[in-house]
Amino acid sequence: MNAVVHEKDMRTIDELIAAHERGYSLDQRFYTDPGIYELELERIISRNWILAGHESELAEPGDFKVLNVARESAIIVRSESGAINAFANVCRHRGSLVCLEEKGNTRKFECPYHGWMYDTDGKLVGARSMPEGFERDRHSLHPVSVDTIHGLMFVCFSDNPLSLEGAKRDLAEPMALFDFPNLKLAAHKFYDIPANWKLSIENYQECYHCATAHPEYARSHTLMVDDKRRGRLQKGMLEKMAACGLREFDIFHMDIHARPGEMGYAYSRTALFDGYVTGSKDGKPLAPLLGDLTDYDGGASDFDFGGFSFLLAYSDHVVAYVFTPVDHLNSRCDIYWFVRNDAEEGDDYDVDEMTWLWDVTTVSDKEIIVNNWKGVRSRYYQPGPFSTMEDYEQNWTEWVLQELSRK
Ligand code: FES
Ligand SMILES: [Fe+2]
Repeated sequence: MNAVVHEKDMRTIDELIAAHERGYSLDQRFYTDPGIYELELERIISRNWILAGHESELAEPGDFKVLNVARESAIIVRSESGAINAFANVCRHRGSLVCLEEKGNTRKFECPYHGWMYDTDGKLVGARSMPEGFERDRHSLHPVSVDTIHGLMFVCFSDNPLSLEGAKRDLAEPMALFDFPNLKLAAHKFYDIPANWKLSIENYQECYHCATAHPEYARSHTLMVDDKRRGRLQKGMLEKMAACGLREFDIFHMDIHARPGEMGYAYSRTALFDGYVTGSKDGKPLAPLLGDLTDYDGGASDFDFGGFSFLLAYSDHVVAYVFTPVDHLNSRCDIYWFVRNDAEEGDDYDVDEMTWLWDVTTVSDKEIIVNNWKGVRSRYYQPGPFSTMEDYEQNWTEWVLQELSRK
């Protein structure tokens, strides 16, 4: 066990975890201590699957995109044979990043340093002036774990990743309602958040702050009120569902409730306020209905995949949030907006209208996360009690502690 030493607080991580009081936010050192971040890299960040987008983004052989998470970078590429491959973006010569572009199409990746060339299977296919006996086939790019769940691509920087079988099986039906395999990317934005990554994710896990921080979101989404006040609207949505081609599922195997050896996952649907059929400014539709849906039930579904990736499926589009650490002081939020793959931009949907709600909401989230970060770093910070509207956040922070104690 690594003993992490803090200037004033000399407790080890084990002691710090043991001292955690259930129902309270985390000790300051979990956010500020670089030694704890190192352990998080090993035990949480590189052990878990992270959403990398939709496989339709890599429709043609040679289509690629790069996913950066903390110190790692992966090239995800559709190979000549049609498979989706992922490789560490680290040259086998002397370690340079190989691909500096975010996305594109290529038959060969050429390292910008000395020009070593790799094909879409990661094989080294070109290396000048190497001594006799140099074996190219022993210098392929290192593979990175990649898999898809009904169209969504996930990457994990571990050779022995958590199983996705439970998520694939149990989410098959709810994902089929929205025809996830046949979505396409309508827009992507990212937000640099100068705050510890856990504060960014914790903020997404609770809507206690929505009433005060998000007037735009709070107009339309009943998650900003507590369960009791949501009852009537939730009942109305459930009654409408069948006639709209939807069914109810209640799936919760997230975080500390994940099955051993499996990535956690969850699904639930929550009513929107009257007058809103989707997450739009005026409550009106934003895009053609997804899958075989026939009408709007006035709800939105949460899909959670592991500790970093969270999706919101409205009846006519899907919004995906991915939060990743950059280092222990900085994080990033990527948002992807997906629509059905035969929808035409301009005719069927308008990107500015579709991205409005979650752009304005994420801009204000960034501000409150950074304010939170400033206070958490103060000598006066101490863990505070969660409200009844922060139970998901509590569950997630307990998962962080559970994973940190896993040797
Ligand atoms: S580091 Fe890539 S070719 Fe030298
Ligand atoms: Fe928020």
